[in-house]
Amino acid sequence: MATLKEKRTCGQRCEDFGRFIWNSDNGTLMGRTPEKWVYISLYYVAFYVVMTSLFSLAIYVLMYTLCPYAPDYQDRLKSPGVMVWPDTYGEEVIDISYNTSDKKSWMKMSNILHDFLKPYNDTKQLECNTHNCTKGKYFIQKTFSAPDHTKWACPFTQSMLGACSGLEDPTFGYNCSMPCVIIKMNRVIDFFPTNQTDLPPYVNCTILEGHNNVAKIDYFPERGIMDLSYFPYYGNLAQPTYVNPLVGVRFSLVGEKHAKIQCRVVADKISYENYYDPYEGKVTFYLKAMK
Ligand SMILES: *[C@@H]1O[C@H](CO)[C@@H](O)[C@H](O)[C@H]1NC(C)=O
Ligand SMILES: *[C@@H]1O[C@H](CO)[C@@H](O)[C@H](O)[C@H]1NC(C)=O
Ligand SMILES: *[C@@H]1O[C@H](CO)[C@@H](O)[C@H](O)[C@H]1NC(C)=O
Ligand SMILES: *[C@@H]1O[C@H](CO)[C@@H](O)[C@H](O)[C@H]1NC(C)=O
Ligand SMILES: *[C@@H]1O[C@H](CO)[C@@H](O)[C@H](O)[C@H]1NC(C)=O
Ligand SMILES: *[C@@H]1O[C@H](CO)[C@@H](O)[C@H](O)[C@H]1NC(C)=O
Repeated sequence: MATLKEKRTCGQRCEDFGRFIWNSDNGTLMGRTPEKWVYISLYYVAFYVVMTSLFSLAIYVLMYTLCPYAPDYQDRLKSPGVMVWPDTYGEEVIDISYNTSDKKSWMKMSNILHDFLKPYNDTKQLECNTHNCTKGKYFIQKTFSAPDHTKWACPFTQSMLGACSGLEDPTFGYNCSMPCVIIKMNRVIDFFPTNQTDLPPYVNCTILEGHNNVAKIDYFPERGIMDLSYFPYYGNLAQPTYVNPLVGVRFSLVGEKHAKIQCRVVADKISYENYYDPYEGKVTFYLKAMK
């Protein structure tokens, strides 16, 4: 027991420790001869070399089998969802209501749309998407021929949205009763929306409630078409400059000026009757203009 042992001075302890580090009597370093230390070191070196190589091999095999341009497992929907801007939610449903005589109210809507359209700025698009795309045909690219080992993406400019571009009318029609909404379809990698290439996907909006309150529906680009040259999408790494094609829809509200609208992207490979996903292939919203 420690208390019974004679007290040792600090000097003695240091000496003991020194002897442990290097014992000149039997030539051991920390209790082992240098020769033994060499063997122990060699053992550990070999051990870690083997472990490291096993680990590297495993990582290498994994990386080799992964394609860097598309996720291996896509738990994304095979049929894309559809969204609408301005994305103002009421209680659970998208509720686009505004007051034509209240500047703050319609500025809110037009600001959402201006922000959303920023990536589509004409100058920006024509600078970063310089490829001359052939309209009306799928843009199939087997090689990475764009700069930095990527694939081309077709430009979609704000001005293609015509009256809904915010260029001629910066209020997007929210200062009167002709509001524009913008429809976007989500990206799905390697998705071909139709196999009938003479019939590109198009947006079709129908009035679910308040038929008498909508006098006219206009689509921009014409007929609400999403051109085939924007498909297929190859993923963000392969096509970093890709932008989704958009469709602007302008409603001419009359009478009570409110309606429930459903906009669907129509194409033979786009389903829209998924009970569990109300946004698959279509979007439903309320539109209301007050005074
Ligand atoms: C719309 O805005 C005007 C001016 O701010 C206001 O007088 C009017 O009550 C508003 N209408 C509704 C339905 O809120
Ligand atoms: C587009 O970008 C250019 C240059 O950055 C800018 O001058 C122009 O105002 C932008 N246009 C719109 C509609 O925001
Ligand atoms: C793009 O291609 C079309 C048809 O080949 C041609 O008429 C047009 O001039 C081209 N545009 C540019 C900017 O190269
Ligand atoms: C709405 O704004 C546009 C563009 O600024 C203008 O031409 C139009 O007269 C405005 N309409 C109303 C009702 O204020
Ligand atoms: C398109 O695909 C459907 C089924 O996915 C098939 O029935 C149809 O024959 C195809 N049409 C063409 C033109 O390939
Ligand atoms: C749009 O959808 C409605 C209702 O489903 C349908 O009656 C109409 O023919 C469609 N329009 C077009 C251009 O497909």
